[in-house]
Amino acid sequence: MIQSPAEIKPADGKLGVLLPGLGAVSTTFIAGVNATMRGLALPIGSLTQLGNIRVGLRTEARFPKIKEFVPLARLDDLVFGGWDIFEDNVYEAAVKAAVLERPLLDQLKPELTAIRPMKAVFSQDYVRKLHGTWVKQGKTKMDLAEQLIEDIERFRRENNCARLVMVWCASTEIFLKPSDAHFSLERFEQAMRVNDPSIAPSMIYAYAALKAGVPFANGAPNLTVDIPAMRQLARDRGLPIAGKDFKTGQTWMKTVVAPGLRARLLGIKGWYSTNILGNRDGEVLDDPDAFHTKEVSKLGSLEYILRPEQHPELYGEIYHKVRINYYPPRGDNKEGWDNIDIVGWLGYPMQIKIDFLCRDSILAAPIVLDLALFMDLAQRTGMRDIQEWLSFYFKSPMVAPEIYPEHDLFVQHLKLMNTLRYLRAEDQLTHLGIEYYD
Ligand SMILES: NC(=O)c1ccc[n+]([C@@H]2O[C@H](COP(=O)([O-])OP(=O)(O)OC[C@H]3O[C@@H](n4cnc5c(N)ncnc54)[C@H](O)[C@@H]3O)[C@@H](O)[C@H]2O)c1
Repeated sequence: MIQSPAEIKPADGKLGVLLPGLGAVSTTFIAGVNATMRGLALPIGSLTQLGNIRVGLRTEARFPKIKEFVPLARLDDLVFGGWDIFEDNVYEAAVKAAVLERPLLDQLKPELTAIRPMKAVFSQDYVRKLHGTWVKQGKTKMDLAEQLIEDIERFRRENNCARLVMVWCASTEIFLKPSDAHFSLERFEQAMRVNDPSIAPSMIYAYAALKAGVPFANGAPNLTVDIPAMRQLARDRGLPIAGKDFKTGQTWMKTVVAPGLRARLLGIKGWYSTNILGNRDGEVLDDPDAFHTKEVSKLGSLEYILRPEQHPELYGEIYHKVRINYYPPRGDNKEGWDNIDIVGWLGYPMQIKIDFLCRDSILAAPIVLDLALFMDLAQRTGMRDIQEWLSFYFKSPMVAPEIYPEHDLFVQHLKLMNTLRYLRAEDQLTHLGIEYYD
């Protein structure tokens, strides 16, 4: 038995889930939670709702439900709020996103119509393809952050929330490199006061959330909380942060297949990944600067999984390419192709082709739910700073600067499950198994 870090506070009262961006992913998430509560559908893809965890030795056969093993907020204790640059309520936005079918949305119409976006903090300098009409005005970025904090506090009061979490589900912003203003909280705040362009809207939300005592998870590849200033704020306030970029379709598949090839020490010469998608996310990513943010996020995984420096003969010359093509007829139903040129015994070439006809928001919605519930668990346990155990959900996992990120889905899964065991002072699962043969 190991010592658990601290007592976990109970999940009593309402949990407010705040979502910057009420587009395809957010509306599919909110509608899905409501549909689940009404018994209209199953929350497929959600570990917190459907998952079990093995505890103890195999001879004990203990497999409690995750949601019974650790205290998680219940679905009927969730309340949703959010911001968008368009005034559509969640029902209208879900109809436009066209992910879920109309008959289901119509059954949920009263709940969805009731959720109206708050005015967004937005600037076209960071998302060039969109023209927002429901946007806050403010003299400085600090002023805008204060308005967001007022929104958060009003939401908390009006919905009688015991706790809040924020999950960024808004559009991908242009690529930003960490710069001077990001390196300390003091410089960051000063930069906000002088409207420094290195402070993107997503950072203003993250700053407001942390200032208001709200954990922040980032579903897009933007830097946002992945900068020293935000880590400092999260540490000072004792709050969890996590990111970045939901791992849903092609990258998820990549982090399933690549560990298998690496485990068998099969070589890889090239990995060509291309996508067609036609939702608003696809339109935003049609801007090369927004795409570059995504590209960087998508390219990282192979390098860390394959570790070419250990095996230059197998992975030293891999040609890795990622493409996203905006193709409106497909809407949210993306198609992702992978062509993988692999090399076997004595250098003989082989190929793997993957054609994944996926649904972006259907894959992302359960991730938002799990992140909201696990971030809330983390805040009730006093876990602050980067939540590396939630890497499982991200394409580009945030980690402390001195270590490399784990991208292998199976390592990430074990890390997540072992963290839950740790929180309940149960033994870590090592899969050693020698104890059965003494
Ligand atoms: N669906 C997936 O599989 C997936 C996977 C990884 C990451 N993501 C990321 O999640 C995010 C949401 O994806 P989506 O498919 O719902 O996109 P979407 O375009 O349907 O929704 C994004 C919403 O954010 C709004 N918005 C833009 N800037 C804003 C701001 N500053 N404040 C408030 N609202 C703002 C837009 O108006 C839009 O309604 C994107 O950044 C996307 O890259 C999605």
